[in-house]
Formats: sequence, structure tokens, C-alpha cells
Amino acid sequence: MGSVLPQERRLPRTADEVATYVVGSAVWAPSVHNTQPWRFTAAGAEITLHADVSRQLRVADMQGREMMISCGAALFTAKLALRSLGYVPETRVLPDPADPLIVARLRWRRQASPTVAEERLFDQITRRRTHRGGFEPLPPDPGLLEALRHDAAEHRTALRVAITDQARAVLAAITDMAEQIERLDAAYARELTAWAPPPGSTRLDGVSASSYPARPELMSPYFPGRDFAAGRGWGLPSATAISASRFAGLVCLVTTPADGPAAWVDAGQALQRILLRSATFGVAAALHSQPVEVGWLREAIRAQLGDGSYPQLLLRLGTVLQNAVSLRRPAESVLTKSRGIPSAD
Ligand SMILES: Cc1cc2nc3c(=O)[nH]c(=O)nc-3n(C[C@H](O)[C@H](O)[C@H](O)COP(=O)(O)O)c2cc1C
Repeated sequence: MGSVLPQERRLPRTADEVATYVVGSAVWAPSVHNTQPWRFTAAGAEITLHADVSRQLRVADMQGREMMISCGAALFTAKLALRSLGYVPETRVLPDPADPLIVARLRWRRQASPTVAEERLFDQITRRRTHRGGFEPLPPDPGLLEALRHDAAEHRTALRVAITDQARAVLAAITDMAEQIERLDAAYARELTAWAPPPGSTRLDGVSASSYPARPELMSPYFPGRDFAAGRGWGLPSATAISASRFAGLVCLVTTPADGPAAWVDAGQALQRILLRSATFGVAAALHSQPVEVGWLREAIRAQLGDGSYPQLLLRLGTVLQNAVSLRRPAESVLTKSRGIPSAD
């Protein structure tokens, strides 16, 4: 494993220890292709989260939208880690005109015990895994959806559920079309290969061959996954018989009223909160960003939404036995500590 799990450590006391603990949790956020496009600097009781553009996907994510969503997910996780220690995070999110790659500054001064709900979310940080395939036919808990909609709204985003069979079929078809378009793009395929290390690799980033199925899993309707193996036979053996069909699960879109770095950070915070909340209900998520990476297909979805909001990511939620592996670079390789006094802004 890339990081020492926060739960296994003695509780941090000094500001330096708190920073290491917080960043050691934040790195477990999901990120596109597990690029982990973040860096952190810490000074006293303040952590600054920076987007690491050297890890941006220049082909699939030209605008840096998914990079900022990933950083937003890391931000939410960092705040939750502070709450787990009983600190109340004070957050200043983008934009910082002096440095557009600063995502947020986090400070901690006041204390208040974490709630049971916060502790339950925190417990899922290192356990949650992205699922890539179909789900069991068990319907998710009805209370889950209400909780997830509330989670999304807390970050100025919405979780839009495809209720009808027709809406699910349309989103599946758009995802399939996007996947086929991207597979035909040589630059896209090269970039994907660069983030798909071979089995047995010692890399602590990229999508591990132990985290996707070797054969695409049948599901209804069919939402294709990314082609990480690219015909090289990598991936996990199928958990179900090849002929058995699973379900796509609850199909949802995370949407924002505006589009731009601040909205993307919001979407990332909402995403991680939704993923962790789902995990507390025993529900896993499959993430699909292909349909929002092809501009005109994203516009087609937007037109279907009909209220001018912007789709940021498609999620499928459901129950499944998971055996995926996920790796991270440890806090020490993404955190720079300085003895400086934090700026008084
Ligand atoms: C913005 C964003 C887009 C993503 N898009 C996809 C996707 O299209 N397909 C996929 O399989 N996973 C996608 N993921 C999930 C990442 O691949 C996953 O978070 C990463 O590999 C780390 O694995 P973990 O979530 O199991 O810890 C996405 C994650 C984020 C934050």
C-alpha cells in the first residue's frame, strides 16, 4: 500500500503531525486515471492544496476540469480528516488571483467533536474503491438517494438520477459512443496506456491491473468501461460467468449550475461525499467520465437536462462484492512543510 493508513497511527499532536495525517487521508480521494494531480504545502496550522498540472491529462482533460474535480475530492477528504481529529476546518477555496493552481487553503483552530455521521464517512476513506462492471440486482436502500441528494446540494451541485428506462438507455448509448470515439483517437489511447501500469508494477499511481475486469462485464443497459488493458489480457478474472448479465445500477449525473474551476472543485467535493456516503450504505460506485470528455456529447446531455446545468460526471451505484486494488503515493511525496508563518488573509 502507498500510505500508512491514518487509522493505524497514534493520534497526531503537533501541527506538523496533523498536516501529515490530513494529507495521508486526502491522497485516498479518487482521481481521474488515479493521476493524483495534487500537491500540498503546510506551514503551521495551515495546509494549501495545489493542482499539479504535470499530472493533468492533456488529451482527455484539456481544460483541467477532471484535474480540479479530483482536487475537490481531495479537499473534502482533507476536511473530513480534520473533523476526525475534532478540528473545525476553515476553508478558502479558489480563486486565488496570485496563483490559479491553488485549489484551497485549510486552517484549523477551533475544536468540536466529530459527529457519528462524520466518523462513519471518515472510516470509508481508505476502504472505498471504484467499481468497474455491473451490479447485483439488489435495489439500494431508499434512504440512500435522499442522503446523496442532500450531500450534493451541500456543495452547490445536484445529483440527477435517470429514473426511466429510456433515460438510462440514452445515457448508456452516449457513454458507448464516447468510448468508441476515444478509442479511435491515437493520442487518447497513448495517454491512457501511460496511466495503466502492467501487472506487477511498483508504481503508486495509475490504474492498477488489479482494479478492472480482464473482460468487459455484460450489464443492462451496457455502459462500457475504459479500455485500460488495450488488448494485453491484463485485469482481474471475471467474478461472474461470462454469460451472466448484471445490472447497470442506479444511473446518476453530478451536475453544477456553472462551469469553471470553482464549480469543478464543488463537483469534486460533492463526488467524494457521495462516494463515501454510498460506501456507508454498502453501496459501490462506477465512475464514467467518457461522456463528458467529448464536447458535443456533453452538450447533448446538457440539452437533455433542460435547465442549463452542466454535467460533470456520470455515476452508477449498486451493490457488488469488490476485490479491486488501489494505490497511492504517500503523504511524504506530495507534502512540503515549511517553517513559515501562514499568511494572515
Ligand atoms: C474526475 C474523475 C473521473 C473518473 N473517470 C473514470 C472513468 O471514466 N472510468 C473509470 O473506470 N474510473 C474513473 N474514475 C475513477 C478513478 O479511475 C479512480 O478514482 C482511481 O483509479 C483510484 O481508484 P479508487 O477510486 O478505487 O481509489 C474517475 C475519477 C475521477 C475523480
